[in-house]
Amino acid sequence: MEARKIILTEDEMPRQWYNILADIKMNPPLGPDGPVSPDMLAPIFPMNLVEQEVSTERWIDIPEPVLDILRIWRPSPLVRATALEKALDTPAKIYYKNESVSPPGSHKPNTAVAQAYYNKEFGIEKITTETGAGQWGSALAFACSQFGLECKVYMVRISFDQKPYRKSMMATWGANCVASPSTETQSGRDVLAENPDTPGSLGIAISEAIEAAVSDESGKTRYSLGSVLNHVLLHQTIIGLEAKKQLEKIGEYPDIIIGCAGGGSNFAGLAFPFVLDKINGKEVEIYPVEPAACPTLTRAPFVYDHGDYAQKTPLLPMYSLGHRFVPPPVHAGGLRYHGMAPTVSQLVSEGLLEAKAVGQLATYKAGLLCARSEGIIPAPETNHALACVVDEAMKAKEEGKEKVILFNWSGHGLLDLMAYDKYFSNDLINYELSDEELQESEKIFENFPKPELLKSV
Ligand SMILES: Cc1ncc(COP(=O)(O)O)c(C=O)c1O
Repeated sequence: MEARKIILTEDEMPRQWYNILADIKMNPPLGPDGPVSPDMLAPIFPMNLVEQEVSTERWIDIPEPVLDILRIWRPSPLVRATALEKALDTPAKIYYKNESVSPPGSHKPNTAVAQAYYNKEFGIEKITTETGAGQWGSALAFACSQFGLECKVYMVRISFDQKPYRKSMMATWGANCVASPSTETQSGRDVLAENPDTPGSLGIAISEAIEAAVSDESGKTRYSLGSVLNHVLLHQTIIGLEAKKQLEKIGEYPDIIIGCAGGGSNFAGLAFPFVLDKINGKEVEIYPVEPAACPTLTRAPFVYDHGDYAQKTPLLPMYSLGHRFVPPPVHAGGLRYHGMAPTVSQLVSEGLLEAKAVGQLATYKAGLLCARSEGIIPAPETNHALACVVDEAMKAKEEGKEKVILFNWSGHGLLDLMAYDKYFSNDLINYELSDEELQESEKIFENFPKPELLKSV
């Protein structure tokens, strides 16, 4: 019988992360007076993480205490989706990296554990953060509990209402979670004064969490981001490095790699080790998938923009819908972000990645097919990757080709069942951004500097 799961032993777990900054050219992040220097980030992040953020070392050692906690659920299984292949009657071979097996249920703790460790090492006692779907907030709550750190989470209002048990999960791990915008910060109060009924956005929640960190006079609080930044994506590369080893064991190499993309971290985690091969001449198609309702990579311009609503972050070179853009209330809360990781943006701008956008209804259709074949109930974010996997598997069938498809099962949807209920009762709709709305949101960049179009390959 052919193996369904390809498993690594704990000894076979990668001991280093892959840093793509060694292999690509990037525009620098900008402050008011030019490129941002590491010490300008010191009030926000601990210096050991700032150093990692700007490092261009290709391989970075994973500290032993981080590996030890990751071993609770890692190495994660690589699974051949034979039941899905059968349901689609496709000649494609479909493999997924199952990141839903972590304690909080997603890929997010791969970086949460590392970030909590570096904060603890630096003498920090409390971490603040934002969360969209609640997966990141619960991952950081879990990681902080492992290292004895205090954790405060600003959760985007709409997800806070849609997913109440995420708050309970965070409380179980000892963290404090409030809905954002909140009345606890100036950024939150400003937004509420303008629009008391706002569904909130990741951009707003990030402003609140940064404000809470930098205004703590004890100097023992720092902010932590669950995606977008170089060090976050670096920590996630353990996914792709494991997947590569697992595929090698069975003599496979993917033709197509797929991951959903909100800020870009689970996608990059799986894809970047294979992007290195592509840079070195290997043929592989790599697709980040986003919601049509928040089409950052597929329709927004490549610009310099702030990572948050209240302009507390430096200007980052990225595809962006504008830091004031409040995405429609799609249920994939983790994909409701106006920007995208600068590294993922750079690779898209160079044509090394080909972004796709999918409508909400197609994502749930694909999610149900996978739940009813593979058995795992996917997170709404993961459903975006699944919709693309189904499309590609059907294309392979039309072309009669035995394509090897690898995708990231970024999380389970066991606390997202309200969204599934809405799908069953036909209460979910597709949101498509109009050209007028896009043009309106782009006006914000008029006086911003423009990134250079750099070529790494
Ligand atoms: C399960 C899951 N997948 C994907 C994402 C999107 O984030 P990223 O693009 O950083 O992987 C999130 C974010 O909350 C998530 O919870």
